[in-house]
Amino acid sequence: MDNAILSFKDVAKSYPDGENTLDILQAIDFQLNKGEFIGLVGPSGAGKSTLLSLAGALLNPTQGEIYLDGISMASLSPKEQTALRLSKIGFIFQSAHLVPYLNVKEQLLFVAKLHGTAKGDANHHADELLDKLGLTHRSKHYPDKLSGGEQQRIAIARAMMNDPSLILADEPTASLDFSRATSVVEWLSHEVNEQGKGALMVTHDERMLRFCDRVIQLEDGKIRSIS
Ligand SMILES: Nc1ncnc2c1ncn2[C@@H]1O[C@H](COP(=O)(O)OP(=O)(O)O)[C@@H](O)[C@H]1O
Ligand SMILES: [Mg+2]
Repeated sequence: MDNAILSFKDVAKSYPDGENTLDILQAIDFQLNKGEFIGLVGPSGAGKSTLLSLAGALLNPTQGEIYLDGISMASLSPKEQTALRLSKIGFIFQSAHLVPYLNVKEQLLFVAKLHGTAKGDANHHADELLDKLGLTHRSKHYPDKLSGGEQQRIAIARAMMNDPSLILADEPTASLDFSRATSVVEWLSHEVNEQGKGALMVTHDERMLRFCDRVIQLEDGKIRSIS
């Protein structure tokens, strides 16, 4: 049985640069299995964010194939890619990007509505996530009344709202102190393991790697090691 949520098959990404091409990623080949939490590390400029953008179909590869739940993403139309992103992928970025005029609960209900989830189910799931992330007392607050750490936890809850099979996180703990970062990453990895999701997390903080099942090290656009 194929257990892959995400697979990269000999993927390359380059950009035209005058008469030459700028090779950003080369020969990227790996598989993320159900229930697996993979850490992605490497120096600045190694191509980590580009790899995540490819995984989320925010960019298309120049070469190779990327499969999400067995579907070749480049074969989809832009509209289909958007629908796939909304239903199957949860994105977490370095900063929260919350909608300023929605309160905490509404931030979560908004993505459920885009996805077409029934109101009752969405409401229940939002309450559950807020509770799990210790944010219930903040439900009615607007982003400008929240600390950076709280905003980021809401962004994480929002990414989980549509029950994605794949979570893509680009330095999700950069705005959190160590103890918050630890508890959030520990929670995420537990959800991923328990619910058979897959996650790819870029991090600069080596202390977070103990929550990862495997670590991919990128260097100069290539995989240097997978452990
Ligand atoms: N749209 C683009 N056009 C040209 N070069 C790019 C583009 N996006 C990223 N790059 C280059 O690709 C390299 C990898 O970038 P990035 O994936 O952001 O690395 P990381 O996240 O590991 O710091 C960098 O040298 C960056 O300047
Ligand atoms: Mg980056």
